Amino acid sequence: MHPDLTARAAHSAEIRARAAAEMQAIGIDEVFIATLVETFYGRVRAHPELGPVFDARLAGRWDSHMEKMVAFWSSVALRTGAYGGKPVQAHLGIANMTPDLFPQWLALFSETLDAIAPSPAAKSWFMSTADRIARSLTLSLFYNPALDDPARAG
Ligand code: HEM
Repeated sequence: MHPDLTARAAHSAEIRARAAAEMQAIGIDEVFIATLVETFYGRVRAHPELGPVFDARLAGRWDSHMEKMVAFWSSVALRTGAYGGKPVQAHLGIANMTPDLFPQWLALFSETLDAIAPSPAAKSWFMSTADRIARSLTLSLFYNPALDDPARAG
């Protein structure tokens, strides 16, 4: 391998190892991520508001969605690079997607973590990360300057 590439590979291996060690210390690993995805989307499907919105888009391909979500959380938590998708694009054109579904998603994620998180630190890590992403998705999908006019405040 070219020396630059060798150095870069060593650098990303180091980043991965550090992330894995930090996450391992609070109980987050590939096994927990798989359990979390399985449990959370089981609850999503049973949720009266969220279930139908997900099902309408994912009928017949739930398995690949779950695999993608495991790859996504592994990439974020463990820096595995397993996920190379585009979350904003993926959420465009979902029928009946509304901003108020995001707080419901977060509430369900929080309840799921209360039930199965390996430690309080693991729960806070997942919640703060999901909260940040939910906020950013909400802005990308629904931001409307007309509703953000300071002249309208109050
Ligand atoms: C109301 C909230 C949400 C709804 C209704 C929703 C719905 C969906 C649906 C239907 C898909 C499948 C898209 C497709 O394959 O056609 C999807 C994909 C995905 N969602 Fe969400 N989602 C929500 C919130 C979130 C949040 C908060 C996160 C991150 C923490 C997230 C991360 C992802 C990712 C990473 C994918 C895979 C994207 C890809 O295909 O690469 N979603 N979501």
